[in-house]
This record gives sequence, structure tokens and C-alpha cells, in this order.
Amino acid sequence: VTRVQSADLRRILTPRSVVIVGARDSSPSSFGVVEALGRVGFAGRIFAVNRSATPAHGLPTVTTCAAIGEPVDAAVLLVPAGAVFDVLDDVAAAGIGTAVVFSSGWGEAGPDGAAEQRALATRARQLGVMLVGPNCLGFMNVAARAGAWIASVPPNITPGPVAIVSQSGGMGNALADLAAEYGIGLSHIVTTGNEAMLSTTDVVEYLVEDELTRSVAIFTEAIAEPARFMAAAARARELGKAIVILKAGSSEIAARNAVSHTGSLVGDDRVVDAALRQAGAIRVRSLEELVVTAAVIAHAGMLRTPGVAVVSMSGGSVDVIADEAARLGLELPQFDDSSVREIRAVLPDYAAVRNPLDLTGGSLGNELERVLKIVDRQDDFGVVAVLCNVPAYDSCKTATINSLINTVGAGLESITMPGFVLSQSVAHLNEAGRASTAAAGVVGLPGLALGIAALASLSKWSARRPAPRPGATPATSGQGARQRGALSEWSARQLLEPLGVPFVPAVLAGSADDAAAAAGGYDGPVAVKLVSPDVQHKSDVGGIRLGVEGAANVRRAFEDVIASAVARAGGPRVEGVQISPMRRGGVELLVGVMRDPQWGLVLAVGLGGVFVEALADVALRLLPVSAADVGEMLGELRGAKVLHGARGEPAVDRAALVDAIRAIADAAWQLGHELACIEVNPLRADHHGAEALDALVVFREVPS
Ligand SMILES: Nc1ncnc2c1ncn2[C@@H]1O[C@H](COP(=O)(O)OP(=O)(O)O)[C@@H](O)[C@H]1O
Ligand SMILES: [Mg+2]
Repeated sequence: VTRVQSADLRRILTPRSVVIVGARDSSPSSFGVVEALGRVGFAGRIFAVNRSATPAHGLPTVTTCAAIGEPVDAAVLLVPAGAVFDVLDDVAAAGIGTAVVFSSGWGEAGPDGAAEQRALATRARQLGVMLVGPNCLGFMNVAARAGAWIASVPPNITPGPVAIVSQSGGMGNALADLAAEYGIGLSHIVTTGNEAMLSTTDVVEYLVEDELTRSVAIFTEAIAEPARFMAAAARARELGKAIVILKAGSSEIAARNAVSHTGSLVGDDRVVDAALRQAGAIRVRSLEELVVTAAVIAHAGMLRTPGVAVVSMSGGSVDVIADEAARLGLELPQFDDSSVREIRAVLPDYAAVRNPLDLTGGSLGNELERVLKIVDRQDDFGVVAVLCNVPAYDSCKTATINSLINTVGAGLESITMPGFVLSQSVAHLNEAGRASTAAAGVVGLPGLALGIAALASLSKWSARRPAPRPGATPATSGQGARQRGALSEWSARQLLEPLGVPFVPAVLAGSADDAAAAAGGYDGPVAVKLVSPDVQHKSDVGGIRLGVEGAANVRRAFEDVIASAVARAGGPRVEGVQISPMRRGGVELLVGVMRDPQWGLVLAVGLGGVFVEALADVALRLLPVSAADVGEMLGELRGAKVLHGARGEPAVDRAALVDAIRAIADAAWQLGHELACIEVNPLRADHHGAEALDALVVFREVPS
């Protein structure tokens, strides 16, 4: 696959002339292209081509592109799939560099369609034509007033800093409509369809570097080239731009790795979550949130500090805002003493001075501006939202409300931090509301739910420390190269201990006498475990005896674990029996590293030991990880509190726990390409430290 170069993409997305192939007056698609170009203010020439040269849309109409007789940049192919190959030849003959293919029935239609699509891409490459789609609605370069777009365009579409990339044409169309509805300015909208040549990642890479674009809103079903996508997201982060993504299709790949618990705990979608998070991208769950979040970040950029202040003209909403903020984990810092004193001097005596701040209705004059300046001076705040309703319709109050919006606009203008107008509901978003906010130069957030969600994303995005991910790849031929399949617990320990993973002491006993002797070497009771590469879950087959005391009991346990494993696991290979001192108390964690087919090695840390599956409380990161990442993962667990000392126990030694987890992660990284998974369950932590009580390592066959 040849990558699309940025310079090429700039040219492709800025056609100066366009031909509609298959143009017909009776076709809404055909008419749509003309209407869209009109609405974005296209100044170039538009031509029409159809078999009979029947004039369409009042445009110059001929039978082939080659017959146009002057250079054209882009062709929109409205012909049926069956005619696309021939038209492509004509497009190339006319020297046209870009073909936007609207027709469906290609890769999405099954194996035959997919083969056709591959052949089409090959043909386009041979001809030197860039194929957009097929099965797409084309693109609009709103900023440059150009495009080749096959859907409707809202009349009030405006240029601005948000770019939209959508695999789905329909979703791209809906996003464009929403943006216009919310008064959000767009730089580009690109739909990629089946991505036979031009992919979402190609477009994202380009848009991240585009000067006018401050944030990229993406709708996609799959991230085809994860490494490239991650690099583009990291680059966006570097430039202070945001990647906001709605990724659909979160169904799971079944049975990722049957032998480990980690696999069943870690769905594909959670891996995508972790990866996007690590790349500094923001994942959202609806089209509305996608557009509004992208707009908020495009407007505000990276905040000086993540704290959000809300100033309200309506007392009724402050509690809703506070609740919603708490639910979303959005930080609403409180006013410090000097701010409180200054605000008291501005507001009536009965006003409660807290964030969100209720201006108590009466304060519509210069009080707002004075309060905003106080907020601006307190360095716990990075952004402010002013809650006020925007006119929804003309009434005797319109003039009053408009002057209020102007006051807010002037207030936000007078401070250094970014600010937004937050409306109480989405209801106001009509012509009147848009006109007054546009006139006042304010950015409106449509409703508390969307507005607070977008501010929360902005705040978290700004708070996340930009963690440059090491570009390193795991060893390609590590120790794993010589191993196959699952290792016994003992062999796993031999592999991991030298790599720095702390283990409970153990002795491998080959006979009942050895076992008794080994147990005698430890104080107190011991754990007696079968050692076999064929038994991954020893408890399931009676391969474990815990709390065994006294030589006679240890001998019996030795015989028992072998006998019951032989009976229940169908004659497994037995390497011996492992004797370890019994540990009491502490917290049991699961630390797993598994290989995701798309994203590579993924670290999972969860609480629960034997309950880990029932609790399903795990945090994920792509490898490699830093100690800070691991610390953050522990903080993300719902049950994080138990690490601070549950049931009257002292807090666990967190540094030792982090070190142990990192050692496991680093070991996985070093073991290389052939590693399928590592699972330490449990890793036991207490106030003295952390140690593995069990370990599973599985290698995979890698086709050379
Ligand atoms: N040395 C030990 N001290 C205390 N408890 C242990 C010890 N070894 C194992 N256990 C407990 O027994 C459980 C099962 O042992 P483990 O070695 O993890 O076997 P399995 O193969 O079934 O996962 C562990 O989850 C842990 O709770
Ligand atoms: Mg275990």
C-alpha cells in the first residue's frame, strides 16, 4: 500500500474544478453536488457528463470527461458500480487526478464485491488516479470553499477549526448538519467509505498538520492501522490539537486466549479505550458529543489548568451542573478566600459564593464582567462557562435576551481564559439563537448534558500529561523463540524471576521425602502445588493443597495433588510438586499481559485474585508502560481503596507493588514476539511488599 502524501492530499481536497459523471437533472445526488458546491462558495467551474450529453443543472454537458477540453481536478462518479471501471479510464484519459466513487456494492457486499474493489484500487493506482471511496459521499473543504460532496449541505455551514472524518457517508452527513445546527465552523468534512485507497488514517494524518484545523472529529468502525493512527494522535497532542473519536462496532473477538483469565476480562473495546486514551485521543459515545467536544477543544485549546468554573444566571441549574460534573469526574475547584471576598463585594448578601456560582438573577450588568475577572485571576481555573439561555424565538423579550448575550460576550472577551455560553437545554438552537451568539462572538454549548460532558473532556484532556510513548517495539526474537505452548508454574518462575519479577520462595520437590524436607525449611504451613505444563488452573483439578502442616501431611499432600491431577486432568506431564510458605492477608491482584491481534501487548491489572472475573475490575494499557502509568492504573480500579488498607490492614507498599507490576510488563516486552500471554494471579501485596504466588506463561507459534 502506498501512503498518500500530505501535499497530494492538500491538492486532492482542494479541487479548482469538478465534473459530475452521470449528471442528470432528475437525480437528487447529482443536484446535491451542485448545491453543496454553491453552499460552500465554490468559485471554480463545474462540468456535467452523461452518455447522451443531455444538459444537466444548466452546466456545460458532454459525453466523456476527455471531451471537456480543459483541465479538471476532480470527478464525482454517480454511475452504477458496473460502469465505474470504464469511467475511471475516461477520468484518467482526461488527466483528472481524483475520482470520488459514490456507488455501493463493493467491499461491503461480500467477497465478490471485495475482489472487485481490490481490482478497482489496482486500476486506479495504475492510472494514477486517487480514489475516494467507493461507497462514500465525498468531501467538502469548507475552509477553502471547495469540494466534491454528494449529499445535502445545510445552508448555514460555516468555515472554522473543526475537521470531520467519517468512514460512513451517512454519519458524515449527519455530523455536518449537526455542526451547522450548533453554529460550529468546519475546516473539512471527508467521508472515506470503503477506503479502497484513501483511509481515515491518511486523512487524519493530513488534517492534524493542517493549519486551520484545531481538532479532528472522527467516526469510524475500525482503526485499520493502529500504529499509524496512534502516531497521528500523538502528533496532534504535540500540536495541542485534539482527536475526538466515535468508534462504533465494539463487539468482541471471541476466545482471545482460552487459557488465561486476562483474555476473557479484556474485550476488544476496552483495549481500544486504553489505546486511544494513551494516545491522548478523546473517545465519545454520540455524534452530538463528537461535534460539540471537538468544537470546545478547537476553541479553548489546551487549558492552563484543568479547573472549570461555571457562572450561572439561573439558580435552578447549578445543582444539576454540580451533580453532572461529579458524575463525570469533572473538577470544579472552589473559590479561594480572596476570590470569595471579591465576589461578595459584587453580589447581593444572600448569594451563596461557590462554584458553580449563581449570580442570583438580578446581576446582569457589569457584575458579570467583574465576576469573570475574579474567576480569571484565580489560577485554579482554566476555563469558564456562563450559563444563560439564548433566544429560541422572537418575543417581547428578544431585545433583553440579546443584550444579555452581548453582555456575556463582552465579559468573556475581557478575560484571558477561554469561555463558553452554556445553555440549559438543546432547545434554543434555532436561527435566532445562532444569530445572537454569532453576533456576540460567543461559542454556545447546547444544553447541560452535552456542555458539561464536553467541558469534562476538555478538562481531562488538558490534565493528561503528554506521555511520549517510546517508539520501541518488543524484541522480535526474545527468549520466547525457543519455547512453545504453556509453561508450568515452575518453568514460568524460572523465566520471570531473573527478569526481576518477585516471587514467593519455592522448592521443586520430586518425591514425598523432598517435599517434607522442603516444607521443614519454612516456618509454619506451606502451599503444595502440582507442577505441570498441561494444567493451567491447578485448583480446578485438585492440584493444590493450602495451609499444609507437618511432615506427614506434606507427604500426603504430595501424593494427593499428583493423584487427583492424574484422575481429573487425564494424565498430565508432571514436573514435580512445588512447596512454598503460606502467606496470610494482603491484597490479591491479577496482573496479565496478553496479545491483542491489532494493538499488540496489553497489560491488565485487576483486583480480586480468585474473584477477578466476577469483579471485572481491571485497568488496561498498551505496553510499554512507565511506573507512572502503572500507578495511574492502580488509581483507576474501582476497588482502589483496598490498597490503602482494607479490613483494618495497613496500606500496601505501593512502590513495591508498582515495581512488581512493571517487572511483569517489562518481562513480557523482553520475551518478545512469540509471547502469547503472561498471567500472574495472584500477585499478593501487603505493607511489606509484593510477590507472585502463581504465574502462567504461554508462547505462540509465529509463522516465520
Ligand atoms: N503460598 C501461598 N500462600 C497463600 N495462598 C496461596 C499460596 N499459593 C497459592 N495460594 C492461594 O491459592 C490460590 C490458587 O493458587 P494458584 O497457584 O494461583 O493456582 P491456580 O493454578 O488454580 O491459579 C491462589 O489464588 C491463592 O489465593
Ligand atoms: Mg492462580
